[in-house]
Amino acid sequence: MNIVISAGPTREKIDAVRFISNRSTGKMGYALAAAAAAAGHRVTLVSGPVNLPAPDKVNLVKVESAADMAAAMKEAAADCDVIIMAAAVADYRPVKALPNKMKKTPGNLFLELERTEDILLALGAAKRPGQLLVGFAAETDDLLENAAGKLQRKNLDWIVANDVSRSDRGFGTDNNAVTLLNRHGGQIDLPLADKHQIAAQILKYILSSGQ
Ligand code: CTP
Repeated sequence: MNIVISAGPTREKIDAVRFISNRSTGKMGYALAAAAAAAGHRVTLVSGPVNLPAPDKVNLVKVESAADMAAAMKEAAADCDVIIMAAAVADYRPVKALPNKMKKTPGNLFLELERTEDILLALGAAKRPGQLLVGFAAETDDLLENAAGKLQRKNLDWIVANDVSRSDRGFGTDNNAVTLLNRHGGQIDLPLADKHQIAAQILKYILSSGQ
């Protein structure tokens, strides 16, 4: 199968040397890409800036901003069977990105931010019959309720609910514990394990489900 996976954070430019980003390290998305390639699938990995080596036998597309990621994902999604959005895409970006380094001035600085495109929402709206769409929900509160809302709103087949309020899982760690929810009301708990084991389990469940 053709599988497209996004991973890592995005960077939203403030000026020539500064940006807004988040704590995503890309480990979960890279583990998913490695597991899918090892299982013999054709994998495109659309990655924000991370410090990880490219997994074997994966077509790596490097991007910086949410807008770059949206363009790369839409292009890759056009002829793929499975899309997994594991990236932590910035929800806002500075209205103006300055070409030079901003100089400081006395007093406070107010940055005006505008919404970025919700890539997963757009992919859900354009989903083809037979295409499998999987999202992540990184939450600190009301994990399953929020994840179920996103599953429905974004027209997903599966969502991976990820508690990012704890230090032993989620952003930046080697381990994770997640709950998979599907559009038919199914729920699967994957207890704390190495992200590579979690990735293999996620793939096993979503690929055996069909659309
Ligand atoms: N996502 C996306 N494009 C964005 C923001 C998020 O494609 N601009 C995707 C993420 O890759 C993830 C899913 O949407 O798969 C959930 O992201 P999250 O930011 O948690 O959800 P939101 O819908 O933005 O909801 P909220 O900000 O209310 O938590």
